[in-house]
Amino acid sequence: MIFSRKSSIGLDIGSGCLKIVQFKDIKGGYELELFDMLPLPPELIVDGSIIDSLRLVESLKELVKRAKIKTKDAVISMAGQSSVIIKRVSLPEMSEEKLSESIKFEAEQYIPFNIEDVNLDFQIIGPKEEAGQMDVMLVAVKKDIINEYLSVVKEAGLNPVIVDVNSLALENIYEINYEIEPGKNVAIVNIGASTINMNILKGGISVFTRDNAVGSNLHTEALQREFNLTYETAERLKKGEAVENVSPQDALSVMDLASEEIIGEVNRSLEYFHEDINEDINEVILSGGCALVKDFPKLLAEKIGIEVKVMDPLKNIKIPKRFDITYIEEMVPMAAVASGLALRRPGDR
Ligand SMILES: Nc1ncnc2c1ncn2[C@@H]1O[C@H](COP(=O)(O)OP(=O)(O)OP(=O)(O)O)[C@@H](O)[C@H]1O
Ligand SMILES: [Mg+2]
Repeated sequence: MIFSRKSSIGLDIGSGCLKIVQFKDIKGGYELELFDMLPLPPELIVDGSIIDSLRLVESLKELVKRAKIKTKDAVISMAGQSSVIIKRVSLPEMSEEKLSESIKFEAEQYIPFNIEDVNLDFQIIGPKEEAGQMDVMLVAVKKDIINEYLSVVKEAGLNPVIVDVNSLALENIYEINYEIEPGKNVAIVNIGASTINMNILKGGISVFTRDNAVGSNLHTEALQREFNLTYETAERLKKGEAVENVSPQDALSVMDLASEEIIGEVNRSLEYFHEDINEDINEVILSGGCALVKDFPKLLAEKIGIEVKVMDPLKNIKIPKRFDITYIEEMVPMAAVASGLALRRPGDR
C-alpha cells in the first residue's frame, strides 16, 4: 500500500505580507489545499529581524484562524544577506554521512559568521572534474534569527517542521512548473517588500544565489514622500486604487522612478553573476509582490534587455473549483516562496 506523505503548510513570513499555501499529494502531482495571504502592518520585520513579535503573532493567528487549517505542521523560510549564506564550494570527495560529521570543519572557512552561531546544511551536487573533489552547496543560517521565527510560529499555535531558505524554495517550485532546458540560464528573481532573492539556474542547476535588502517598499515610501500619505494610503495607491488629490498618472511616474532604483539593484546582482560566470542570462522569472506593481515586469525587461516572465507557481498544480480563481491568478506571483515551501515533506532533502 502506498500512503501519501503528510503535507505541511508552506508559511512564508515576509516583511510585507504573510502567505500560506498547502498542497495535497495526488496521483502524478499536487492539488491545491490552501491558499491565503494577509498584509502586515509596516515595521514588524526589519532587515529580516522580527521587531514586534507580539503583533506578528497576532497577524499569524488571524491568518491561521481565517484559513481554517487542518494541520499545524508548517514549513518556514529564511532569507536575507545578513542571515543566510548559500555557497557552492569544492570539498574533498566523501559520503553524505561522512560530510554530515565533518560539515562544521569543512564549512568554517567559507562562512563569514562564527560557525557556532549558524545552523549548517548542505547538498552534494556531484563530482568535480578535478579528481577527489566534489561540488557541494552549503547553506548557513544564523541561529538567533531562526529562533526568533521559530518562537513566533510556535506562539501562534503552529508546529514548525522544516526551516528552508527562500531562494531554494523558489528553485523547487520553478522545477515542478517549468521545463528545464540544458544550456539555458534562467534567473529566478523574487522581489518582495524589502528583499530581492535571486537564484540563477544553469540547465536547471543552481550556480549563483544572492539576496539583497531592497524591495517594493521603495514604491510605497516614494509615494508617501511625494504625496504626503500614510503607509496604508500609499499601499492602496500602489495597488491601483483611487486616492484623493493624487492623479493616477502622477502616482505612476513616482512609482517608475522607484522601479528604476529596484531594477538597478537587480542589475548589480546580474553583474556579480557575470564576474563569477561569464555567460548571458536567457530569461528572468519574476515573482514576489513587486511583480504586481503596474508596468514593473515590462520596465525590468526593457532596462536589463532580457525576456521577463512572471512566475506562475501553481501552473502545474490542480486547483479545485472551490477556490476563487480570479483572486488566485491575480495574487499568485506573491505565493511563489510559500508554494515552494509547501512542496517540502519531513524527511526529504
Ligand atoms: N496588487 C498589488 N499591486 C502592487 N503591489 C502589490 C500588490 N499586492 C501587494 N503588493 C506589494 O507587494 C509587496 C509584498 O510582496 P511580497 O509578499 O512578495 O513581500 P514579502 O515577502 O512580504 O517581503 P520580503 O520577502 O521582502 O520580506 C508589498 O510591498 C506590497 O505593497
Ligand atoms: Mg518574501
